[in-house]
Amino acid sequence: MTAEPGTRVLKADDAAISTAAAALRQGGLVAFPTETVYGLGADACHGEAIARLYAAKGRPAFNPLIAHVADVAAARRLAVFDADAEKLAAAFWPGPLTLVLPKRPDCPVAALALAGLDSIAIRVPNDKTARALLDAFGGPVVAPSANRSGHVSPTTPAHVLADLRGRIDLILDGGPCAVGVESTIVALLGKNPGLPTLLRPGGLPREQIERVLGYALASPSLEDAGDAPQRLEVIAPGMLASHYAPKARVRLEANAPRAGEALLAFGAAPPFDGTTLNLSPRGDLIEAAANLFSHLRALDASGATSIAVMPVPHEGLGDAINDRLARAAAPKS
Ligand code: TXA
Ligand code: MG
Repeated sequence: MTAEPGTRVLKADDAAISTAAAALRQGGLVAFPTETVYGLGADACHGEAIARLYAAKGRPAFNPLIAHVADVAAARRLAVFDADAEKLAAAFWPGPLTLVLPKRPDCPVAALALAGLDSIAIRVPNDKTARALLDAFGGPVVAPSANRSGHVSPTTPAHVLADLRGRIDLILDGGPCAVGVESTIVALLGKNPGLPTLLRPGGLPREQIERVLGYALASPSLEDAGDAPQRLEVIAPGMLASHYAPKARVRLEANAPRAGEALLAFGAAPPFDGTTLNLSPRGDLIEAAANLFSHLRALDASGATSIAVMPVPHEGLGDAINDRLARAAAPKS
């Protein structure tokens, strides 16, 4: 793989991990794989590095970042864990779950990374390269998905290059991501009323979380945002309608593709002459999640102006897939 000057792509071996950790220490921007999607990492305590990160992504500065840490002990140094938070961390970390918790008064993470909030989103990723990088760096690494703001999340180093070449220092190549959709985000802030709240469906199905908690997750409400000026963004910034947006129009729940459309199929596809990609010919939601963003990108890159998407079941990982598809279909601003 070739990159423009300024963005190196290194196969994620031991030497590359050391190089990446050193780049983070110097305030650099390093894209790395997690089990969900590729993240764009910066030293969480380095305000300038974080400013560069927002600039590289073209992300609105009020959208807070997830702090990635090596283990739950490191997470406890950043945030206050109640009994439910401890339970979820024990059950699902490392893994595709992000917890939004009250930050500790002595939390060293830069305010810019938290967009000025009193809460902090934290996760312990379950990917060999991500874990090696966090171990080598030795501190929290903030990492949004490694795409330009408003584009789909990257699941391969090539996706990261397509969006960020020349804008970041380094890409660690650890191959394609196993899960393929972002982490599930649950807030435990003692509000709404006291119930853990599902802020973003993602790679960990809500049913599994509810089984561990022993009760249902709440849905976000306006009260969660308090008096914050950008109430909707604060409640569920990852749920903004324009967040996941291919260039092509997207038509959902389409059983019959029309002339001129490209088809994003799921399961048995109808006969069709146009460009077709299948999320999972055998109707497997895990396989479909892993293919979602690359197929959307590929159909977009094929020059299709409209993508017909076959129905995907609303269960398990299907919730996250349908959530992302609904965003991709939202009218562009
Ligand atoms: O799987 C993932 O979560 C990936 C990988 C790289 O870890 N990361 C990711 O980050 O998806 P990002 O920045 O693209 O999405 C994180 C979402 C954003 O919508 C952000 O606004 C929200 O989490 N978030 C972060 N801190 C928050 C907080 N304190 N309260 C509410 N939402 C928060
Ligand atoms: Mg993102």
